[in-house]
Amino acid sequence: MSTSERPAARRQASHPDQRGRKHRRAADAAHEPPAPPSAEPLVLLSRAGVRRLGEGHPWLFPDLIAQGSLVDGALVRLEGPAGRLRGMAVHSVGSRIPLRVVSRQVEGEFAADWWVQRVDQAIARREQDLAPGEQACRWVHSEADGLPGLVVDRYGDVAVLQAGCRWADGIAPALARHLVARHGLRGVLARHDGPFRRLEGLREEVKLLAGDVPESVPWLHGGLQRHIDPWHGQKTGGYLDQRENQLWAPGVLPRGRVLDAFCHDGGFGLHLAAAGSLVEALDSSQPALERVAAHAAANGLSARLVPRQVNVFENLRARVAAGDQFDAIVLDPPALSKRREDLRAALRAYKELNLRALRLLRHGGRLLTCSCSFHVGREDFLDVLRAAAADAQVPAVLRELRGAAACHPRLLTFPESDYLKVLLVEVPPAGGAPPSSSSL
Ligand SMILES: C[S@@+](CC[C@H](N)C(=O)[O-])C[C@H]1O[C@@H](n2cnc3c(N)ncnc32)[C@H](O)[C@@H]1O
Repeated sequence: MSTSERPAARRQASHPDQRGRKHRRAADAAHEPPAPPSAEPLVLLSRAGVRRLGEGHPWLFPDLIAQGSLVDGALVRLEGPAGRLRGMAVHSVGSRIPLRVVSRQVEGEFAADWWVQRVDQAIARREQDLAPGEQACRWVHSEADGLPGLVVDRYGDVAVLQAGCRWADGIAPALARHLVARHGLRGVLARHDGPFRRLEGLREEVKLLAGDVPESVPWLHGGLQRHIDPWHGQKTGGYLDQRENQLWAPGVLPRGRVLDAFCHDGGFGLHLAAAGSLVEALDSSQPALERVAAHAAANGLSARLVPRQVNVFENLRARVAAGDQFDAIVLDPPALSKRREDLRAALRAYKELNLRALRLLRHGGRLLTCSCSFHVGREDFLDVLRAAAADAQVPAVLRELRGAAACHPRLLTFPESDYLKVLLVEVPPAGGAPPSSSSL
């Protein structure tokens, strides 16, 4: 916590809400020991707020706050109606999520450098989990690492961070200096150019925070040479949540004619081509496809990995009409449901895409299909595949259900951290009995 927050906290002490809180606390004093005095601003939660806090979800919405002395971007103390300390949170003024919980501990002091320790712990955990020689992974996965709204992706000797709340935005420069000094990075870039910033009223920008960050960072991934553009690539430059699935795919998808649909920089296609398939890599983004071509050339795979700029929805429809057939298809669209209100339309779009993909598979072919929409739950996505399989009139079989790479931990009490669904589905060989896995 920066010392500049403390005067703000003291200024807030005479806020009318604060007086109301004192009044309420006096009435409750017979039942609960009062919280110890502290420099942090204080927020009083409603009973519903205390309940939600107890359930372990780190987001507290405006209707759960009874009253409080809120300070934008600051660490605040949380109390229940009886005046008991319940935990700590960081505050974002005007946000749909004004409080993001960082601790439900009520004992002891909250160290001023609490976030530094958590960053170091998150990085240490990744080092234990990573395959030897792996050069890229997500170092910090926001709330799932106890660091609200903060994402840090590491590519070789640079890191790209995204701050999605006022508190994370405030610590970003100090965090960047820490990553360089303590973790030996060459530079740290802020990719603050997504809609996630607009929602929080934060400025959209791409900014060098420490050291230097080149436009092309090499990444040796599973023995293949890739390059990430941290300045202009999608997200932080790449989709690190799929890095393990990209290595797993060649072992579970049949070799032959393959479509990598919504390929971005060709992570799946590259590994499938290296395993011997002939891959068409489909995406609408010209810069992403240029990267696919560069990756193919760098690995001597240009004859087997062919980029095509298309709208995948239309392209798959045209291929079905033409009677095209494939041995394997990867389907990894962008989040089709960004808001709960979009869910029904998104489910229809997922179903249509998956129906087309199933129709394009030859008997014995396999579909690796993904959804990164949080609002589409695992069961919803399975329902989508069930409906698609029924319409395609194929006895499709679910072979495996996976999620994001281990560097994207899934906090059980924070379902939002478990957003990526990856299903491996097989269309059984002609005349053959379905393999012994769960039928969709
Ligand atoms: C989730 S990313 C794919 C990530 C990629 N499979 C990987 O493993 O790195 C979605 C991709 O879909 C592309 N895209 C979005 N809408 C599209 C459309 N209608 N047709 C083709 N590509 C599209 C985006 O450019 C982006 O590269």
